[in-house]
Amino acid sequence: MIDNAHYPKKVSLVEVGPRDGLQNESSPLATQDKVALVEGLANAGLRYIETGSFVNPRWIPQMADSEDVFQRIARAPGVTYAALTPNLKGFERAMEAGASEVAVFAAASESFSQRNINCSISESIERFRPVMDAASAAGIAVRGYVSCVLGCPYEGDIKPSAVLTVCQALLDLGCYEVSLGDTIGTGTPGSMDALLNALIPTLGADRLALHCHNSYGQALANILVGLQHGIARIDSSVAGLGGCPYATGASGNVASEDVVYMLEGLGIDSGVDLDALVRVGESVCSKLGRENQSAVAKARRK
Ligand code: HMG
Ligand code: MG
Repeated sequence: MIDNAHYPKKVSLVEVGPRDGLQNESSPLATQDKVALVEGLANAGLRYIETGSFVNPRWIPQMADSEDVFQRIARAPGVTYAALTPNLKGFERAMEAGASEVAVFAAASESFSQRNINCSISESIERFRPVMDAASAAGIAVRGYVSCVLGCPYEGDIKPSAVLTVCQALLDLGCYEVSLGDTIGTGTPGSMDALLNALIPTLGADRLALHCHNSYGQALANILVGLQHGIARIDSSVAGLGGCPYATGASGNVASEDVVYMLEGLGIDSGVDLDALVRVGESVCSKLGRENQSAVAKARRK
């Protein structure tokens, strides 16, 4: 029997399927199917949906229709429809499209920062400053991401102290929380525990979220360690869709269905209807013609 006295009573899921999930698909999903995906996720009870990204469409063509997606979705009350914005131009596009919140994204590895956003870590922080100013003037909350917190596809191991420095810089800029990206899914409960022991005394668990890719099958175990540390915001992707084009070997995010199932087993409320979520995942996988990566969805097939 797990002693769940220290687990959060409630966990908020950040659904990244429509963004992280679809940015890496070789055959893009039609705009109307993206709209149906976002609406299905909201109907299943997800309250925070990363709906698209406003990056250079030459870099990520799969997200080139994010404006259309934002404009066409029927918005449910109480749902945050967020967008990834790498710079002021991205922020302006996100505002034009009606994003309710934005996220800036940095890395704990210099090489990954260069490949992903074409600048150094410190240049990226400078690029985010005008985004933060514009967001503050517009009353828009900004989330931060740090990639490669448990390993980099180019540099290998990353020191927790490097992660701490970038997290602190994003929080100092005004991000309300930082999502810790295990971009290539190489982390284990051991390395996650060591990272959180290094971060939480300075940053606090309430300003951290976890974003675990599942390449090595460790994501749920790593999230469990995060919950034990008091982290109550978890990123996940319906059907385990996802990956980053600049992180070879990065498979999908942890499947939202699998996280919800685990939370239910721990008696932790996520507000999500698991059956409805499984139906959304099966539907998007059949449209994409790809295998569903959620173990729970597969186990429930009749
Ligand atoms: P750059 O080439 O250095 O940008 O790209 P630039 O400022 O020199 O501009 C070059 C051209 O891009 C110009 O156009 C700009 O207008 C245009 P031109 O004059 O040549 O016609 N441009 C833009 N167009 C549309 N929207 C914009 C924009 N900005 C510039 N916002 C940039 C820098 C950051 C834009 C580029 O590197 C980029 O788009 N990178 C995107 C990378 C990306 O989306 N990666 C995946 C998401 S991150 C991720 O998946 C990790 C995460 O999930 C966490 C984890 O798992 O670890 C978040
Ligand atoms: Mg990711």
